[in-house]
Amino acid sequence: MSENLDNKPDNRAEYQQDTVMEHTYDGIQEFDNRLPNWWLWLMWGSMVFALIYWIVFHTLELRVLPREQFEGVMAEAEEIQLAKMLEAGIDNEFFVAMSQNAEKVAEGREIFVKHCVACHLDQGQGSVGPNLTDANWVHGCEPMEMWKVVTDGVAAKGMPAWQNQLGPNRVMAAVSYIMTIQDTNVDGKAPEGEPCQN
Ligand code: HEC
Repeated sequence: MSENLDNKPDNRAEYQQDTVMEHTYDGIQEFDNRLPNWWLWLMWGSMVFALIYWIVFHTLELRVLPREQFEGVMAEAEEIQLAKMLEAGIDNEFFVAMSQNAEKVAEGREIFVKHCVACHLDQGQGSVGPNLTDANWVHGCEPMEMWKVVTDGVAAKGMPAWQNQLGPNRVMAAVSYIMTIQDTNVDGKAPEGEPCQN
């Protein structure tokens, strides 16, 4: 035994060698050491946390998940905004002005490509839904009439209501875009409804 130069307690007797498991695969062996306590605490702690979280948020639903909370607040804000817009009186002139705003129309085009082309096709020439580029309209050719159809949909005919999914701003942008393709007469679905009187 060498001399203990630092005056530290001699604990060499307590030193344990790493325990090696018996199996060997391709010459590789595995330690079987006890995991450190901090690691075990972390593991058990996260398991307990996950269990409590699951019960509180998913089983008993005592708390609203952050995403649902966010969606709830957003929906409320959209409702308030819509109410304000109706109060302020959106009308045909409002939409005419909007359809002359290139930025809004571009935004409307993006929304149209994403949500509407499945039924109205890329240029609005119609497939499931009517041709939006001809002179005929099922629900009227005035901007406010289009706005109402897009907002509330026509459930019986398969036109979805977009108010909740898109919110009032994007619905308006989509309408402003449709106004720019109105009367472009793209070859497509045969005219439906009545010719526009304007
Ligand atoms: C799932 C298919 C579908 C999708 C998606 C869809 N529509 Fe429609 N849309 C229809 C159908 C079907 C009608 C015809 C309703 C009727 O005959 O009463 C229609 C009618 C309309 C009308 C009225 C046309 C008229 O002649 O009066 C407008 C405007 C319109 N859609 C705009 C949109 C916009 C904007 C979007 C995207 C935000 C959209 N639609 C997405 C199926 C769809």
